[in-house]
Formats: sequence, structure tokens, C-alpha cells
Amino acid sequence: AKEPVRVLVTGAAGQIGYALVPMIARGVMLGADQPVILHMLDIPPAAEALNGVKMELVDAAFPLLKGVVATTDVVEACTGVNIAVMVGGFPRKEGMERKDVMSKNVSIYKSQATALEQHAAPNCKVLVVANPANTNALILKEFAPSIPAKNITCLTRLDHNRALGQISEKLNVQVSDVKNVIIWGNHSSTQYPDVNHATVKTPSGEKPVRELVKDDAWLNGEFITTVQQRGAAIIKARKLSSALSAASAACDHIRDWVLGTPEGTWVSMGVYSDGSYNAPAGVIYSFPVTCRNGEWTIVQGLAIDEFSRKKLDLTGAELTEEKELAYSCLS
Ligand code: NAI
Repeated sequence: AKEPVRVLVTGAAGQIGYALVPMIARGVMLGADQPVILHMLDIPPAAEALNGVKMELVDAAFPLLKGVVATTDVVEACTGVNIAVMVGGFPRKEGMERKDVMSKNVSIYKSQATALEQHAAPNCKVLVVANPANTNALILKEFAPSIPAKNITCLTRLDHNRALGQISEKLNVQVSDVKNVIIWGNHSSTQYPDVNHATVKTPSGEKPVRELVKDDAWLNGEFITTVQQRGAAIIKARKLSSALSAASAACDHIRDWVLGTPEGTWVSMGVYSDGSYNAPAGVIYSFPVTCRNGEWTIVQGLAIDEFSRKKLDLTGAELTEEKELAYSCLS
């Protein structure tokens, strides 16, 4: 039998946490033959609710779940973890300036970086979900210098999956037959959902999405804004932000990272930029990646047209600006 993998979920008493922990305990993230021990962290005001989640995990009698640590102590939460899914953060409240929210999150991610660096298992893989996801991940990377930069990522897979969903609805095809969309840049409304290399499996072979949709105005307009603003549309409809889709995307992200992407398929991940595609280096930028043996590699050599270039630059500039804002909060 396999040794259990320890998975940390921060903010586990929140909405996404509540959707995510049962998925992990059922094997959705790491496979149906992989036992897990869940580490759940939240802050003291949420301690009772967190304990309630732990009680429900016990009550669900998940065969793969070999233990649950539910705590408000960040060191206890981080100790020995192999995978860390960082969902906890400070939400933007009405009337708050962007800088105030950034400042709160920078201090959270700085202290959690230290705890992970000192107490997580060697080669721990980190996924930051909490917003501003790219910049929180960057702060975590900067303050955990002994964790390799390649082990620190942020979630843009929800945006990627939303793009697949929109194409599948438009063409009335199975979402599993659509692949290789790309989310470039920031997990924010400047992200660029790119279908220029996306394909659909059809009875007569793989076809480019552009050839099948035949509606460039939609692809260059409404498709992009729908994906960029989907989060806001969910809040409007549910009066709560996306949770089940975010949790599901977090499982997809970790599963593909650990177990590998299928041959010929890439996914989008926010990773530490090396300047590929002339994105700014030294920020966490979403790229198309393939994964093998537990490591991601940026897909190289894709053609970027002029329309796309502008959008890659715009979202890159926003990330550079966010990085500066984050640093101004530190000093
Ligand atoms: P929520 O407010 O329901 O849950 C957040 C939880 O984090 C709360 O239980 C809170 O007590 C906890 N928390 C706050 N500070 C903490 C700290 N220092 N350490 C540990 N836990 C802490 O929020 P929800 O809906 O679960 O969303 C969580 C985050 O995910 C938000 O920042 C949201 O903007 C972000 N998000 C990101 C998405 C993405 O695609 N990257 C998609 C959807 C949401």
C-alpha cells in the first residue's frame, strides 16, 4: 500500500475549503489509490467552524483519509506537508483600498512562507489560490528562498477550464473533446484567454477551434470578456464567489502537476516567469505548461500574433505593477 501524502489546505473553514477537502479525501486530487492525511488551517475566529468540517470528514468515512489535522497553528499545519493548497487570505471588503488588501495578504503570505520553508516536507509543492493569487505566490516564493521556485505556483486552471467550457457550449461539443486553450498572465480581469492553438476532437480528426467557430468577432470579443468576468457573474448569481469550480480546478492543477499531462495536451498554470514569450521575468505569470515526473515545463514556440501580443503585455504590466505594490507594503 502507498504511504499517505500530507495535503495542507489553508482557509479550510471557508467556502472553497468546504468543497475542496472532500474532493481530496475521495482521491480526486491524487488518485483513487493514494491515501491522504489532511492538514487544515484557519484563523481563531473560524476555529469552531473548522472543527465542524473535521467532524464531517470523520462522518463521511472516506476510505483514503488516513488522518485529519485541524488547527489554527501555522507550524502544526505546515509540518511534514507534501502539498500545500493556500486558499486562506484576507478578502477585499467594501470601501477598502487595493493597497490595504494587498498589505494584509502580503503579511499573511510572508509568514506562511517561513512556516512552509521551515516545516514542510522536502520538495513540497505549493499552489496559491487566494487572491491576488499570482502576487501572493510571488511573496511566498520570495520569503521561502530554500523552496525551489519551480515548486511554487498559482491557480489559473479555473480560468482555463472556464475557457474550455465556453468553447464547448458554443460548438455544442463535449468539453473533454476541447483542449489547448491558454490563460496568459494574471488571474484577474486582464488575463488573456487565448484560443489560437486550441483544438476540438471531431469524427474527422482534430480541428482548430478558430476553424470550427468561424466567428472571429465572438472569439476576439465576447468569449474573452466572458472568461475574464466569469468570477463576477458567479458572484452576481450565487451572491457568493465560485467555490466548487475553484476547488475542482485546484484538484486538476495538482493532479496534472503530480501525475502528468496527457500526451499532446497542455494546461495553464501560474509559474515563476523566466521571460518566455517576452513576459516579464520574476513575476508569477500564467503560461501553457506540460507536466512530467512531477515537474512543469513551459510550452515553447507557439506563434503569438499582434492581437495576442498586446494582451500578453497588458496583463504582464499589471503583474509588474502588483509586484511593486506588494513590495511597497513590505517596506
Ligand atoms: P472564504 O472567505 O469563504 O474563505 C477564506 C478562509 O480563509 C476563511 O475561512 C478565513 O477565515 C481563512 N483565512 C483568513 N486568513 C487566514 C490566514 N491567515 N490563515 C489561514 N486561513 C485564513 O473565501 P473563499 O470563497 O473560500 O475564497 C478563498 C480565496 O480564494 C479568496 O481569496 C478568493 O478570492 C480566492 N479565489 C481564487 C480563485 C482562483 O481561481 N485563483 C477562484 C475563486 C476564489
